[in-house]
Amino acid sequence: MAVSSLDDQLTKYLTDAHAIEVQALAQMRAAPGIAGDPEIASAFSAHLAETEEHERLVRERLQARGAAPASIKDLLGGLTGKGFVLFARSQPDTPGKLVTHAFSYEHMELGAYEVLGQLADRAADRTTADMARKILQQEQAMGQRLEALFERAAEASLGEGTQEELERALTAYLADAHAIEAQAIRLLERGPELAGSPSLADAYREHLAGAQAHQELIAARLQASGAGRSVLKDAALRLGALNWGMLFQAQPDAPAKLAVFAYAFEHLEIAAYELLARVARRAADPETGAEAQRIAGEERAAAERIRSLLGEALEGSLREQSLGPR
Ligand SMILES: [Fe+2]
Ligand SMILES: [Fe+2]
Ligand SMILES: [Fe+2]
Repeated sequence: MAVSSLDDQLTKYLTDAHAIEVQALAQMRAAPGIAGDPEIASAFSAHLAETEEHERLVRERLQARGAAPASIKDLLGGLTGKGFVLFARSQPDTPGKLVTHAFSYEHMELGAYEVLGQLADRAADRTTADMARKILQQEQAMGQRLEALFERAAEASLGEGTQEELERALTAYLADAHAIEAQAIRLLERGPELAGSPSLADAYREHLAGAQAHQELIAARLQASGAGRSVLKDAALRLGALNWGMLFQAQPDAPAKLAVFAYAFEHLEIAAYELLARVARRAADPETGAEAQRIAGEERAAAERIRSLLGEALEGSLREQSLGPR
């Protein structure tokens, strides 16, 4: 859809934010029931109340701008699934996957509100700008709460496993990391041409080299553990069951969407490596633990770089629609 003015663009971003919150609502309602740990469950329950408020605030902004969304009941009914909750439930280590994907989703929200706030500034809509920043704070806080739960998520996923079970879990986590890097590589290969800004294109290009190095390291660890190719195939299939387009509401086709998506994806990687590090230490493999911890640090650096460039991504999106400076 062609957008003719900054105002229309702002309404479109609000509509996207609303869809993100509707998906979040479905996830927050279902997550406590499968969390596998009371503290993890209560983190989700607490954020459910916040998410209900986000949905309402964004809906009211849309209404104030004369663009009423469908009723929340209809929107929830129209969802094809519960996003990452449905995915996590199908995994053998549900609490770990739940926390990993929720962590990524919160950062997708954070990125979306960062961009929304900046766009609202440009469109001189103070109310929307203030709302975006207020919600952003709560998404950030939820991200931090989830981060503090990585240890419990590992524990809830592994329980009192025997050494053999721990080693099998470690192999599965390595294979998952391998599959995630494969997705990252695909995303980063497409990144530069869609980046909308030279600095973002550089960020994607440079991180692509990192992702390839990470994948090789993980492959070496898997080989050392004696895992066969079928393990990799299984992990790729498992991750493939997650419908990214549905989870993130749309394909990342424009610079700002791509940057927000990449930012969220880096957080999927951060959480995956933080969990991998913990699983490795439990399985008495400190070398893999240290390696995973180091890679998690590199993913954090990549995420921060992308976040610092979200404003440039927005410029790129606006320029492509002839709404910004050339
Ligand atoms: Fe939210
Ligand atoms: Fe959230
Ligand atoms: Fe990465």
